[in-house]
Amino acid sequence: MSNVTFLSGERVPLEMHKVRMVQKINLLPVEGRLKAMQEAGFNTFLLKNRDVFLDMLTDSGVNAMSENQYAAMMQADDSYAGSETFYRLEAELQDIFNMKYFLPAHQGRACENIIAKVFVEPGKVALMNYHFTTTKAHITMMGGAVEEIFGDEALKINSDAPFKGDVDINKLNAAIGRLGKEKIAFMRIEAGTNLIGGQPVSMQNVREVSAICRAAGIPLVYDASLLADNLYFIKTHDAHYREAKIVDITREIASLVDIIYFSARKLGAARGGGILVSDEQLFLRMRELVPLFEGFLTYGGMSVREMEAMAVGMRETLDIDVISQTPIFVEALCNELLGKGVPVVTPPGGLGCHVDAMQFCEHVPQSQYRAGALAAALFIAGGVRCMERGTMSEQRGDDGSEHFAEMELARLAIPKRVFTLSQIKYTADRLAWLHKNRSLIGGLEFVEEPKVLRFFFGRLQPVSDWPERLVKQFRKDFGDSL
Ligand code: F0G
Repeated sequence: MSNVTFLSGERVPLEMHKVRMVQKINLLPVEGRLKAMQEAGFNTFLLKNRDVFLDMLTDSGVNAMSENQYAAMMQADDSYAGSETFYRLEAELQDIFNMKYFLPAHQGRACENIIAKVFVEPGKVALMNYHFTTTKAHITMMGGAVEEIFGDEALKINSDAPFKGDVDINKLNAAIGRLGKEKIAFMRIEAGTNLIGGQPVSMQNVREVSAICRAAGIPLVYDASLLADNLYFIKTHDAHYREAKIVDITREIASLVDIIYFSARKLGAARGGGILVSDEQLFLRMRELVPLFEGFLTYGGMSVREMEAMAVGMRETLDIDVISQTPIFVEALCNELLGKGVPVVTPPGGLGCHVDAMQFCEHVPQSQYRAGALAAALFIAGGVRCMERGTMSEQRGDDGSEHFAEMELARLAIPKRVFTLSQIKYTADRLAWLHKNRSLIGGLEFVEEPKVLRFFFGRLQPVSDWPERLVKQFRKDFGDSL
């Protein structure tokens, strides 16, 4: 954010924009929230948005767009092949990343599908700082495996490390020595590492990983879905880049990797995705899959209107007043919660505030989905929809055994420029109340459990009448308040 100091010394996440279009939202009474949760099978993914007050499920596809993005959507060129819109978007991306080729895809996981199909085969391993749900699913579906090589700080809930997403260089060298180049499909770095709390990766780390991968001949893939937040952290936390232009930081990252892909539902605040490469052979290997899975090469399954919004949104990502908005609001929410004794992942990262359900719900067995239970309880307590990022988001082993997640997080995503400070304070207030009454929160069990990505559609039930007891306590403490 531009440097604006308050006389009080307080750190306030000041909005560097004004709101010119609004959407009315609805806060149901607590009894209605319980009913909605029951109908949703205690899975926040299955709630109807009409029942949700503050939707902090994700920042995917729900960031506020700028007036210039909306204006650009009006002049989209709707042709199946050779659309002018495509060439505008391609030129923007080539310039911002200084990479030669752009392949469009309808969203981030579609890029992952293409990359997995080209590089992964049975027996191959994809190394990465940390997996993302859809990334891992695509790799394992192709018969490959994922090996995570994160550093010692990555999984610590509370740490002072500014770049907890960094790859552990010793583990990278050891993995290459053990597996050999032939068995490694690629090395993947995920910017703003999602599942460990939106934690960034340092430039120094990308540089080191790049040097090792280039020497070993291993393709280096960079998931830039959460690049905007990561750029903010590099600029503000790495003294070397304090004066650097954001576009130059972006180009430096791009110069170190072989393939960049992104979800434009996050990066660029639109809806879509894409892959960038400089090497012609890599481009050609992936190109043939685009018409097969996405659409013709000049739209890749996206609406041309979204592509226009993406082109403008990508350019706006180079403005610190745009990319700072999520991290400073995440920090504000984390600080509010820490002040009230609620355990959250620190340092605050990008993407959202991550509440540590492992600690919050330590009385709930991990097999009863601590983070899932907390997500359900928060919706009942305040109409705030967050996302389980813990054991429910993992997949069972082939023998049906549960794979307990290393972290049990309830993620309160902060879409860009959507929520106000009072909504942040309300969320912290309801979470603090829940924390005081945490002994009332009980576990969940599956009643319908899909095999793949079960957290999307799975239905659960509470193991006791704890949700009803929570509602009773709410009425006792808040009277007739919504
Ligand atoms: N990579 C990362 C780091 C992501 O966070 C996501 C999506 C994807 C890839 C897949 O992109 O959704 O466009 O297909 N994350 C969303 C989230 C779903 O809520 O964190 P997608």
